[in-house]
Formats: sequence, structure tokens, C-alpha cells
Amino acid sequence: MIKVQNLTKDYGHLRAVDNISFTIPKSGIIGILGPNGAGKTTTLKMMTCFMPPTEGTVFIDEKNIYQNSVEIRKMIGYLPEGCPIYTEMNVVDFLYFIAELRDIPKDSVNRRVKEMIDSCGLEEVVGKEIGELSKGYRQRVGLAAALIHDPEILILDEPTSGLDPNQIAEIRSLIKQLGKEKTVLVSTHILSEVEAICERVIIIDRGKIVADASLEEIQSSFHNQNRIYFEIQSKKDADILPEFEAIKGVESLQLFSKHEEDMITKFFINYSKDMDIRPELYNFIKKNKDWTILEMRTEQHSLEDIFRQLTEKGEEVAHA
Ligand SMILES: Nc1ncnc2c1ncn2[C@@H]1O[C@H](COP(=O)(O)OP(=O)(O)OP(=O)(O)O)[C@@H](O)[C@H]1O
Ligand SMILES: [Mg+2]
Repeated sequence: MIKVQNLTKDYGHLRAVDNISFTIPKSGIIGILGPNGAGKTTTLKMMTCFMPPTEGTVFIDEKNIYQNSVEIRKMIGYLPEGCPIYTEMNVVDFLYFIAELRDIPKDSVNRRVKEMIDSCGLEEVVGKEIGELSKGYRQRVGLAAALIHDPEILILDEPTSGLDPNQIAEIRSLIKQLGKEKTVLVSTHILSEVEAICERVIIIDRGKIVADASLEEIQSSFHNQNRIYFEIQSKKDADILPEFEAIKGVESLQLFSKHEEDMITKFFINYSKDMDIRPELYNFIKKNKDWTILEMRTEQHSLEDIFRQLTEKGEEVAHA
């Protein structure tokens, strides 16, 4: 179990992490999501004993980062941002080197290195210099190095950053596999990454936690609103959107697009969850003989919408 308590980090006058607290139980994949500069890397560096906090502490099980940093480092596998590994070594030598640093007993070193080569899919590149590898393979080598001492906890800082879509899919499936047995904490600024691999997400913005919940909880309970997507074709060129304003329960209207040529308007209607206005909307449209419904479907607010609202800098977030 990981317990982060009132963690704060100042770089001179800049408060990069501002009094954050959260708890992570055993196993599962948890995302730390936030725009650039939110404080993700700084938080992970403090949790992995790479940097002391200005205030607050972290407990891993009953051990804390001040008194038990050696034990904590043993319990954690850490893939730092950008995966800075020795580029001039070949893959297998590098893994033996890390195994030695990690004090892996001599009689199990060969077995462990082989297991890492197998589980991280490195068979094809074992003899190659790390500097010659593609980014995806380099990231796998970084993962193998983080995993070689079989830690209970894996902390990965932007593990898919800079990879192509195939490499991203491969690394994600590797992480998912690892999450079945280990506690995995993954930082990312990419929403689809969280949606693809995480069960729970902690969203941080400018050093503060702005949400901490399961993905479903964030999607369903953060907003007390439902929304419906409509595509309506009208016979006359008219502005149809304002017509919906008078319907009881309609909270807001959002134009998606309007095609003048075929007179199709696409839009969203947001309405309160307390009342189901779908029958009323349907009857209203039916009464208007000039309109044809091409599409009508209810939608949840996307995680992207919610993330934008939670973090002011949301527009910088990539949706890869
Ligand atoms: N060594 C440092 N010295 C001074 N300021 C720093 C240092 N490292 C980070 N910062 C600042 O602290 C803030 C948080 O940075 P951090 O790297 O933790 O963010 P991040 O969420 O990991 O961002 P990114 O998505 O870009 O990796 C930023 O404003 C950054 O400029
Ligand atoms: Mg970072």
C-alpha cells in the first residue's frame, strides 16, 4: 500500500507540488494525469526517493522515504521520464549490470535476465547496443531494468511518450499484463492512455489534485448532466437551435456543425439528470413537420470534456 501524505515540493519560489495526499492499495493500474508542468514527474521522483520533499512524506507499506529509502527502492521499479539508460552498452550486458546493482543473488541472475528478455520481448535485440535501438525497444529495455528485481510496485513516468502507435499498443499491453500482479502507477498527459489502461485516475493540475476517482465515477458523477446528440434535417433554411431553448429541462445547447447545402444541423442538448426529457424532445421534433431526425443518441460527457474543465490548461492536452 502506498500512502502519500501532504507532499509538497518547492523549486525556489515555484511550488511544483502543493500539499497532495492519496492512497493506493495493492495491485491495479493507477494513472496520474495532468498537463505539462502539472507536477507529475516531481511527485514520482519524491515517491521513488530520488528527490526529498519540501514537506510531507510517503509511506510504502509501513516504511517511509526518510528512514527507509534503501528498502523502498528495493520495493519499487522506476522508469524515469525519457528513459535515460546507458546507450553505449548492449542490451544483455546492460541487464546484467542492472542485476548486479540490484544485488540479485548470483545463482538467479541468469534466470532473471532471461525472464526479462522474454517478458519484455527483447529476444531480437539482445546483442544490440542500446543507442541503436528504436525508441520502443529502448523503452522495453527501461521496463526490463525497472522490473529485474521483481518489485511489488512499478512507477512509470510517461512510458509511451514518443512512441509510434504500434509501439504504444505493445507497451500498453505489457503494462496491463504487469498490472495483474503488481501495483502500477503511470504518469501521462494523454487521456486516451488513461482510458486504455487505468482503473483509477488521479488528475493533477499546477501541483494540486483536482480529481481522484475511478474512470466510471469521474464520467458519471462529476457531472449532473446528460446529453443528447442530434442530427436534424430541415426543409427550410432556418436556425433550429433556439427553438429548443424553451423546452423544460434543457440546460444548454451546443452547435456541432451546420451544413447549409443539405440543411443538416448537428448539435448537443445538455439536460439535467433529474428529469428525462427525451420523450418531450421527440414529440417536439415530430410536431414540426419540416424536420427529420437523422440521428438521436444519448452520450456521456467525455473524459476529455471533464479534464478540460478540471484543468484550465486542458487545451494543451493531446488526445492521441
Ligand atoms: N529541477 C527543477 N528546477 C526548477 N523547476 C523545476 C524543476 N523540475 C521541474 N520544475 C518545474 O516544476 C513544475 C512541475 O514540473 P514537473 O516536471 O514535475 O511536471 P510534469 O507534470 O512532469 O510535466 P511534463 O508533462 O511536462 O513532464 C514545472 O513548472 C517545472 O518547470
Ligand atoms: Mg514529467
